[in-house]
Amino acid sequence: MRIFAISIAAALSALVSGPAWCDPAAAEALARKSGCLKCHGISKDKEGPSLQKTAAKYKGKADAIQKLTTHLTTSPKVKIEGKEEDHEQLKTKNPAEIRDVIDWILSQ
Ligand code: HEC
Repeated sequence: MRIFAISIAAALSALVSGPAWCDPAAAEALARKSGCLKCHGISKDKEGPSLQKTAAKYKGKADAIQKLTTHLTTSPKVKIEGKEEDHEQLKTKNPAEIRDVIDWILSQ
């Protein structure tokens, strides 16, 4: 458990301080592959808020990356059509790729 906690902490700090912005096309492809765009339009709300709405919500917030990293790596409960479900995670464990998708979302 302790080692688990330490490795999560290491992964999170790598995410927070990791390289910013690599490849928007790869980020979008990963989001597509992970099924994110089924519930989130770029500019259109679907089951979830549009990515532009999320970008606007977190604009200028110092904790944006940390909040979204938690959202996309810990399957928080969200209400989908009135039913509680685990939120989808990205289909990668690579912190750089996760960070890339978050940067891509925030740039919408
Ligand atoms: C089955 C539908 C569904 C899928 C698939 C899905 N989401 Fe969501 N997502 C939601 C809903 C619903 C919310 C709103 C949660 C809330 O407001 O409580 C949400 C919220 C979010 C938010 C906003 C978090 C915040 O703090 O404002 C982001 C960013 C997000 N999702 C990204 C993603 C990404 C990236 C993926 C792919 C890994 C994904 N979603 C897959 C339904 C989905």
